[in-house]
Amino acid sequence: MKKIVVLTGAGISAESGIRTFRGSDGLWEEHRIEDIATFEAWQRNPGLVLDFYNQRRKQLFEVKPNAAHLALVELEKNFDVHIITQNVDDLHERAGSGQVLHLHGELKKVRSTVDDNLIHTLDGWELKLGDLCARGSQLRPHIVWFGEAVPMIEPAAALASEADIFIVIGTSLNVYPAAGLIHFAKPGIPVYLIDPQAEMPARISNLSVLREAAGTGVPRLVKQLMH
Ligand code: APR
Repeated sequence: MKKIVVLTGAGISAESGIRTFRGSDGLWEEHRIEDIATFEAWQRNPGLVLDFYNQRRKQLFEVKPNAAHLALVELEKNFDVHIITQNVDDLHERAGSGQVLHLHGELKKVRSTVDDNLIHTLDGWELKLGDLCARGSQLRPHIVWFGEAVPMIEPAAALASEADIFIVIGTSLNVYPAAGLIHFAKPGIPVYLIDPQAEMPARISNLSVLREAAGTGVPRLVKQLMH
């Protein structure tokens, strides 16, 4: 079976009603990253950080996967599909995708602040000050904040280097090391970029750009690849 590696960003979840970060109504228009999504912010004002992620986690119970997530599941019938997502929502899993790698963590998971390996799934949407891990330390969102290590980047780069087809959906390719994954793909394999405001990434040969929303572009591409 040919291996398809899919790199997704906030844009694939936009049509499910989840805000992106850098669009016109992007989350980073309303919040300063340094106040919300850094370890220093957590140390300075943990309540503000917890509230930001609680609100986004709460929304997960109100949204569902869209046609783009579902089309990627369809692709699994004919291909070995690996999804590398920058998203922290669980829409790929809820759509039914079998191989999902989260580069930037997961909203539904929390972890100890004294042991990175103590991770568990949060019941409900709210993580509060005083919610402690088994070793008695405050639990934090299992999210990769700016400036923190991206532990899953090695397996992600390995996957990218094995791809026979590479698909990039709904990411501004602004944030590294995620944005650099496209350069691990073997030169010359088909690369597809689906994004209404797609900009041509440099030095990618055999690139096809679908300048449209994921909700229509991904099903169309999947149909083309399946036949
Ligand atoms: N379909 C496809 N793409 C879309 C859609 C849509 N319906 N709507 C918006 N987009 C595109 C935008 O054009 C943009 O290129 O999705 C992209 C969203 O870019 P960002 O908001 O920067 O999101 P992302 O690239 O995922 O951000 C990467 O930055 O803030 C951090 O950790 C956070 O994982 C995130 C990372």
